[in-house]
Amino acid sequence: MANTHLCFLLPLLLACILLFNRPVKCDDDDLHRGINSYRASLNLTALVENDNAECLAEKIADKFKNQPCTNTTGSNTISGTEPQFDDYPNLLAKCNLNISNTRDGTIMPACVPNRVPDLVLTNFTKSQYSGKLNDTKYTGIGIGTEDDWVVIVLTTSTADGSFVPASKNTATLVSKIGMFFQLLFLMLSFVLLL
Ligand SMILES: *[C@@H]1O[C@H](CO)[C@@H](O)[C@H](O)[C@H]1NC(C)=O
Ligand SMILES: *[C@@H]1O[C@H](CO)[C@@H](O)[C@H](O)[C@H]1NC(C)=O
Ligand SMILES: *[C@@H]1O[C@H](CO)[C@@H](O)[C@H](O)[C@H]1NC(C)=O
Ligand SMILES: *[C@@H]1O[C@H](CO)[C@@H](O)[C@H](O)[C@H]1NC(C)=O
Ligand SMILES: *[C@@H]1O[C@H](CO)[C@@H](O)[C@H](O)[C@H]1NC(C)=O
Repeated sequence: MANTHLCFLLPLLLACILLFNRPVKCDDDDLHRGINSYRASLNLTALVENDNAECLAEKIADKFKNQPCTNTTGSNTISGTEPQFDDYPNLLAKCNLNISNTRDGTIMPACVPNRVPDLVLTNFTKSQYSGKLNDTKYTGIGIGTEDDWVVIVLTTSTADGSFVPASKNTATLVSKIGMFFQLLFLMLSFVLLL
């Protein structure tokens, strides 16, 4: 009897875990689309989503969390004066990246109260960042958001800016292993409960 219950519940549990693991990222998709239309208007190729760049963007956005928007933050920053993080190498490492495959990329933080979509888009397309967004050398994009902050990371198709680690897909493998143990744990707790 217990076994039949288990058979019914496991697929349900699996579905729940899959659903909860999926981050809500509608905002990001809109911004991505907006930037690609901007590039299309300049006859440039669309930027393809890059998971590792997105990972880094999320980590950086997380660092900006709780910092208020001022006229010296985000897209108002004079190029080259962006805050430097002491633990930038750690952020890279967390995303399975290192300076050798991110050197040619570009990191663009913007701060917009409540992340009003139109303002967010113009903060990228109508600021000093437009000079990066209209550059043909960029081919990929990752977007991270946190509070009022939006971070865009651009990647290139060269090895120095590919954001693809030599040992590709380690990140997804790690998360898959993590999920496997999550599942195993749930199964075990069920068996113990029944
Ligand atoms: C984009 O290409 C079209 C057709 O080739 C051309 O008419 C238009 O002027 C181009 N726009 C820009 C911004 O280069
Ligand atoms: C930022 O704003 C303050 C006051 O609102 C002003 O005094 C300062 O000059 C501004 N700085 C820049 C770089 O615009
Ligand atoms: C960027 O966003 C700020 C709000 O934080 C807004 O005041 C400003 O006009 C925006 N800049 C551009 C270029 O759209
Ligand atoms: C890209 O944007 C920058 C700054 O807005 C501008 O100076 C440059 O001419 C633009 N380049 C192209 C290829 O559109
Ligand atoms: C970065 O990655 C490259 C290729 O995977 C590797 O050869 C290099 O040692 C790494 N550098 C650091 C600082 O980890």
